[in-house]
Amino acid sequence: MSVKPHQWMDDAQNSKPSLSSLLTLVEEDLKAVNELVIKRMQNPVELIPELARHLIASGGKRIRPLLTLASARLCTYEGSHHITLAACVEFIHSATLLHDDVIDESSMRRGVVSAHEIWGNQASVLVGDFLFSRAFQLMVEVGSLDILSILSNASATIAQGEVLQLLTSQNLETTHEKYLQVISSKTAKLFEAAAEIGAVLGKRTDQEREALASFGRNIGIAFQLVDDVLDYGTHKIKFGKNVGDDFKEGKITLPVVWAFEHGSIEEKKFWQRTLGDLNQKEGDLNQAIAYMMKHKALEKTLESAGTYAREAQNQLQIFPLTPVRAALEELTCFVVSQAL
Ligand code: IPE
Ligand code: IPE
Ligand code: MG
Ligand code: MG
Repeated sequence: MSVKPHQWMDDAQNSKPSLSSLLTLVEEDLKAVNELVIKRMQNPVELIPELARHLIASGGKRIRPLLTLASARLCTYEGSHHITLAACVEFIHSATLLHDDVIDESSMRRGVVSAHEIWGNQASVLVGDFLFSRAFQLMVEVGSLDILSILSNASATIAQGEVLQLLTSQNLETTHEKYLQVISSKTAKLFEAAAEIGAVLGKRTDQEREALASFGRNIGIAFQLVDDVLDYGTHKIKFGKNVGDDFKEGKITLPVVWAFEHGSIEEKKFWQRTLGDLNQKEGDLNQAIAYMMKHKALEKTLESAGTYAREAQNQLQIFPLTPVRAALEELTCFVVSQAL
């Protein structure tokens, strides 16, 4: 029986899903990952560990490394490469955050002022490059060409997604399909890789490997859809980032695509002035939110996130219902519940 996203989202809200069962299951492993990350961000050039520590020690949910640890566990992997690879995945993620905040001119990250606000854009970009390179050193240490291929492809795809997004910026002709292409690349690809490598470590069948990759891809898309909804949230600060950054930058996310498509001629002119021409004045963000409410753009985006999260859950069905599978299922609910 298929469950409607709305119904499923009610359930997600009522059961208050959290990361805690997943965190408890892989607690020891995650501790080892965090230690490895701290160890491997060290460098004699003091600015590198100083800037990296600012980002890495200021929090972060560690969702991507958790995916690697959990999928390795789901695939009954018993070695220790999953620790190295989970650290590698967090290094890639951290590098993209340093770069992303420069590109997006975001002044806040993980509840603290962004690194580029303190050390400048040049230092942030270069330390981001260092973290990327460190990630490659870690993946080489594992010595699997399959895994090297997955993670290097993911890195190229993330960069491709960020460039594609730059091209769609301020362009109100951006379609739903193009938007999906952007978020599949910039965000979902790393989720996909993080989950898939667990199956490779566990020497699982192609079918199981593809199921975990697809699980990661779908949860990653849901994750970015939710993030894009939260950017038009009513609270000043969303999970340690500024609300309204997407609007300020002229980023064309799904809520915008939806509101623009369904908007009147007058509304289309508003979107063209504010996002197309980046000619914004006080009150515009509130007006944008009001138009989105009128056309249920945020609701529709969340509904879509629910559909992807549900598909992620479906992908896990081929695995036995162990506590780790249940925790991964809960993770899909957690992602969507962030915006409920
Ligand atoms: C932020 O990811 C970047 C997006 C893809 C939206 P997270 O929300 O996972 O960031 P941290 O690691 O928890 O800070
Ligand atoms: C983040 O996209 C994707 C990557 C870091 C590659 P966003 O720009 O939407 O994420 P936030 O909102 O800054 O975390
Ligand atoms: Mg950003
Ligand atoms: Mg960005």
